[in-house]
Amino acid sequence: MRLQRLYINVDHVATVREARKTDEPDPLLAAREAEAAGADGITIHLREDRRHIQDRDVVAIAKAVTTVCNLELAARDEIVSIACDLRPYQVTLVPERREEVTTEGGLDLSRRDANLRTAIRRLDEAGLHVSLFIDPDLAQIDAAKDLGVPAVELHTGRYSQHWRENAVALDEIRRAADHAASMGLAVHAGHGLTYQNVQPVARIEAIEELNIGHSIVSRALFTGIGPAVKEMKLLLQQARG
Ligand code: PXP
Repeated sequence: MRLQRLYINVDHVATVREARKTDEPDPLLAAREAEAAGADGITIHLREDRRHIQDRDVVAIAKAVTTVCNLELAARDEIVSIACDLRPYQVTLVPERREEVTTEGGLDLSRRDANLRTAIRRLDEAGLHVSLFIDPDLAQIDAAKDLGVPAVELHTGRYSQHWRENAVALDEIRRAADHAASMGLAVHAGHGLTYQNVQPVARIEAIEELNIGHSIVSRALFTGIGPAVKEMKLLLQQARG
């Protein structure tokens, strides 16, 4: 089995900086250290409320990465324009609500949202690799395929809340991943993955990319980013034998 790509989400480094509105810690330095430790990509989310990552971070990180930059964004004209100008390798469209603490659910593609269609068209015309963050639901995957995107990211939030109790949410992710891959979609996954719960997801062959932030940045407070990334990479390697 090929190794999964591990993309590190450095938003929370900016969360600490924004708590003081100062210049440290710098998410760009975190991105550089993560890459040096073996990260396959850097993920950042430019939220409409700019609660962590700022526009200048996106510019700096998109330019500096030596791997790839995956920019998460909502389907809003202003943010889509930034992505079209900066041209990161990948953009992941996510739902966004101002009052949420973090991205709560996947996009609801059954709503046939005109803004979403426009955003996909604009990003595609700019030559960007578009992924849609959706729940591990077969109907959502069919709808993503109809929208013509090359990739989906499956929301692992339900799994991360219930993995200790039973395997229902894991089975759901496996079924969704296999379904998406059988339709020719690239399958990514993320949200709420930790050092404790990542391996069952990492064993799902159809999933080729994981996006992990909070758990790695939390561990990095004690170990530094490099060792935190290396430890997660090791778990992924072990999961795939
Ligand atoms: N994938 C997406 C689309 C997200 O919005 C987030 C959170 O920003 C993540 C992955 C990473 O989630 P976590 O920080 O819980 O690892």
